[in-house]
Formats: sequence, structure tokens, C-alpha cells
Amino acid sequence: MTCRLLITGGAGFIGSHTCLVLLAQGHELVIVDNFSNSSPLALQRVQSLAQRNTIQVVEGDVRDADLLDQTFRSCGELDGVIHFAGLKAVGESVANPLLYWDVNVNGSRVLAEVMQRHGCSTLVFSSTATVYGAPITFPLREDSLTDPIHPYAQTKRAVEQMLDALSRNAGWRIASLRYFNPVGAHPSGQIGEDPLGVPNNLFPFITQVAAGRRERLHIFGNDYATPDGTGIRDYLHVMDLAEAHSATLAHLLERPAPVQLTLNIGTGCGRSVLEVIHGFEQATGLSIPYEIVARRPGDVAKLEACPAKAEQLLGWSAQRSLEEMCTDGWAWQQANPMGYRNAP
Ligand code: NAD
Ligand code: UD1
Repeated sequence: MTCRLLITGGAGFIGSHTCLVLLAQGHELVIVDNFSNSSPLALQRVQSLAQRNTIQVVEGDVRDADLLDQTFRSCGELDGVIHFAGLKAVGESVANPLLYWDVNVNGSRVLAEVMQRHGCSTLVFSSTATVYGAPITFPLREDSLTDPIHPYAQTKRAVEQMLDALSRNAGWRIASLRYFNPVGAHPSGQIGEDPLGVPNNLFPFITQVAAGRRERLHIFGNDYATPDGTGIRDYLHVMDLAEAHSATLAHLLERPAPVQLTLNIGTGCGRSVLEVIHGFEQATGLSIPYEIVARRPGDVAKLEACPAKAEQLLGWSAQRSLEEMCTDGWAWQQANPMGYRNAP
């Protein structure tokens, strides 16, 4: 079955890879993005990779109800929405919590209201593993305690709760996907992660060091209670994450409403910072200079998914190796040393 879907934030890192998967499956896509953290070029490349020049792009803000109403009116019936648009920098959320509550929470509320007005009630929401806070017992299952410790995570948890309440109304089918740490890029090297300024996240920092854009990686602490002292995360290939979205949509659309799902999306295999560095070095033959510095405020020792529920309900599990995450992420960095900026 092919569908007509609205994708908010579809030009971003995860959105662009998901759009490629959906387009290749024959779905019709309408993207709403204000390009505050992305480039329209990503969508051009998605279309050329999929060899389908059919994406309809609406430049605008998800908080703009008039724009969304107009989009719903002009697009014909939409079968579902994937809501990626939002802000994701933890430090910025501490400095400016009101902005995060406005874009992430109010943006999601406006979107849900407009969907309701237009009779569209199938929604996949981008949540995050950081809603678990600083867990000390594993495995982390979806019903494990949530304890968000910064405004970014608090806004994501708040939206999950708003959507849970909504899905109790007959008629809605909603999935909140708690992503662990998506990295890598499409193997073509044509689309990938394009952080503005100094990357906050480990993986793009490593690829920029490899490319000579930065001298060395700072490892934020080696005194955590982990085997080698560095933080452990559950890194997953962004293409696996993209496929998790299409599997989730298919699951929702096959079932009668109401449906409410919360799913961890990860590999179940945590890796330390040092393991990622060595994995990258092995996959690429490059060397990554690093130094140990103080812990980063807000960091936790370990986050690792129990992905069993996604496997059981969706038949989805992460397929790609750390080596593929590294070679594909490196291919993107090499082909696009400055990301989408200055690209032809
Ligand atoms: P991204 O910044 O690359 O993509 C977000 C997209 O939303 C961008 O294209 C941006 O321009 C757009 N956008 C932002 N605010 C908007 C607004 N008000 N109106 C319209 N468009 C807007 O981020 P990403 O890594 O692709 O993340 C996508 C979603 O997944 C986000 O909601 C993020 O919080 C969540 N998430 C990301 C990660 C991660 O590690 N990347 C982990 C967990 C959850
Ligand atoms: C971070 C955010 C998280 C957000 C996610 C995606 C924090 C505290 N958490 O997750 O809320 O959902 O990004 O945007 O910011 N590291 C280094 N050196 C670096 C960068 C990172 O050693 O230059 C370490 C970190 O200490 C951590 C691991 O690498 O142990 C992963 O860090 P990162 O990629 O930033 O992801 P998270 O902290 O899990």
C-alpha cells in the first residue's frame, strides 16, 4: 500500500534518510521544514537517490497553525504524519528552556490540533532515550522509569505524555520512538549529518577530526563506572533508524484505532567512546588523536536499549554493524567536507 505522508523536519539528519526509505517504497511525501538546522539540498539529493522527483516541500514552522492548515487543505487526504521537527541541543535547552518548550511541545500540540481538524490521526513522534535520565538498572525497557534531567528531555517526555493522553481517544494511532544514538549516513555518501558549528555529538566530531577539520577529540571523562571508564551509548546506523519509521507506520496503518506505542529504537549493544574510536580507526585505517578531559555536565555513564519490543511488534531490528556506521559516515564526510554548505 502506498500512502501520502506529511513529514515535519524531513530535511534534517534522520528525516532525510527516512524520506529516502519512504520515497523508495513509493509513498508520496509532503515536507514541512523551516530549514533552521538543515538545507533544502538534502531533499534534492534524496529525490535524486530515489530517482523520484515528487517531494512537495513547504518551507515553514510547525508552530504555524495557518501554514499547516493550508498544507493539509492543499495536499489532499494525508494518511499519516512523522514528526521530526524540533530542537535537540541539550546545552541550548538549559540556556533557553522556553524556546524548547515552545518549539518541541507547542509545535507538537499545534500539529496535533491541525491533524485533528483534518481527520488525520496516525502519528509517529521522534522521542529520545534521554527521557530515561541516568538509569542504573538494565535492560532499559519502555516501562522502565523515565527521569528526564534536562529541558530537552523534559520537553520530549512532555510530548509523549500529551500524545498518550490523545491516543486514549478512539481514532488516534500514535507511536513515540525513543531513539538511542543514530550515526552514520546513507552508503552513497550523498546525505548525512550536517551539524552547524562545533559538533555536540561524538560521531560527527570524530569524522571532522579524521577529515582534519579539528585537531583532536576530547573524551569527556574516563572515570565512569564502565569497563574502560568512558561513557557507553547504543549507536545505531541512521538507515536502520529510517527503516524503523517505515516499519512503525506500516504497523500503525494496519491496525484499527486506537493504538498507542512507545518503542526503544536501538541495537541493544552499548559501546564505549574508546570502542567507537577504535572501531572507526579499524574501519577507515585512519588515526583519531584524542585527549581525556573533564566529564560533560548532564552526561550519564550508560544508555543501552532493550530493543525486544520493537522486534516483537514491528519485526524490526538493527541490521548494520559499527563498521558500516563508520565507513558510511566517513564516506559522507569525505564527499562533503563542509556538509551541505558550499556544495554544488
Ligand atoms: P535535525 O536538526 O537534523 O532535524 C530537525 C529538522 O527539523 C531540521 O530539518 C530543522 O530545520 C527542522 N525544524 C526545527 N525546528 C523546526 C520548526 N519549528 N518548524 C519546522 N521545522 C523545524 O535533527 P535530527 O537529528 O534529524 O532529529 C530529528 C528528531 O529526532 C528531533 O526531534 C530530535 O529531537 C529527535 N532525536 C534526535 C536524536 C539524534 O541523535 N539525532 C536522538 C533522539 C531524538
Ligand atoms: C546527546 C544528548 C542527547 C541527545 C543526543 C542527540 C547530551 C548530554 N545528550 O546524547 O540528549 O538526544 O545527543 O542529539 O548532550 N563524547 C565525547 N566527546 C565529544 C562528544 C561526546 O567524549 O566530543 C561522549 C559523551 O560523553 C558520551 C558519548 O560520547 O559518552 C556520546 O555523546 P553524544 O554523541 O553527544 O550523545 P549523547 O550524550 O548520548
